[in-house]
Amino acid sequence: MAKTIKNIIKITSPFVDEAETLWKEKKFDEKKFPEIAEKILKQIPSFELPSLEAITKELINLKLPDQNFPNKDFSDLPITLIRKEKFCLDLYWWSHTDTSIHNHHFTGAFKVIHGSSFQIIYKFNKSKKINKDFETGELLKIKYHELKLNSVFPIELLDTFIHQVFHQSTTTVTICLRSLPTTEKFLSGFLYPNFKIRLKKFEPSFIKHLIGLEILLKTNQKNIPWELDKKEMVSIHYNLINNRLPSSPNLINWLEKELKKDELGKIYLKTLNQQPHYQKKMAEFIEL
Ligand SMILES: [Fe+2]
Repeated sequence: MAKTIKNIIKITSPFVDEAETLWKEKKFDEKKFPEIAEKILKQIPSFELPSLEAITKELINLKLPDQNFPNKDFSDLPITLIRKEKFCLDLYWWSHTDTSIHNHHFTGAFKVIHGSSFQIIYKFNKSKKINKDFETGELLKIKYHELKLNSVFPIELLDTFIHQVFHQSTTTVTICLRSLPTTEKFLSGFLYPNFKIRLKKFEPSFIKHLIGLEILLKTNQKNIPWELDKKEMVSIHYNLINNRLPSSPNLINWLEKELKKDELGKIYLKTLNQQPHYQKKMAEFIEL
């Protein structure tokens, strides 16, 4: 049984309740959650997935809890199915998008419920903090493996678990039990082989500032009120291209022109454009 989101929620609810009981026994210790989430996800039985058409239709007026990703910030279609006080269960539908290299500002576990993926696990050795959002160092590939149907993998906090997932099927679907992140922890993205950039939450006023800049650039205004230095441009650019900020093609172009005037900015852009595409070069995996 399933074939509707409503039924998926019905099937998974008792398991999510069980996860809550088990974690409560551990006093909601963040470090204990991956093991609990992994155990619970393994217990959830297989169910028949609804088609994308059926899901899209059902979403017209489905009552869902508060969404982790109200827009399309992660996967092609992210849906928070169940929200508890301390954690939630999300479903991610992947049709086109692979993940960038990232750590996690939450803990938990994920399970492949349709299709299959390849995962690369990395380690980051910091060498220099450029500013609070930007670090250089050495990103090392430490493991590569296949995530087959029904595979479950734990998610540890911040740099203890850095990974990248490539979806091998036309459609891959995962479910994820994830703790709710606290405000003092920030997710980061990484560029192979040497950059770590914070994917931060921006103040609403700063987001409006960027929207204002986009309008000024779009209308060819000459005076662009940018007051941050080039190093800050890197993190703004990275957040923009990762859909963490409103779509701003003119601002992205302008930032790239500015970054090319700076040594570190040039290296950042070059590294960004040279990220390996593993799906096209599967042979590279074998050497890991
Ligand atoms: Fe992840």
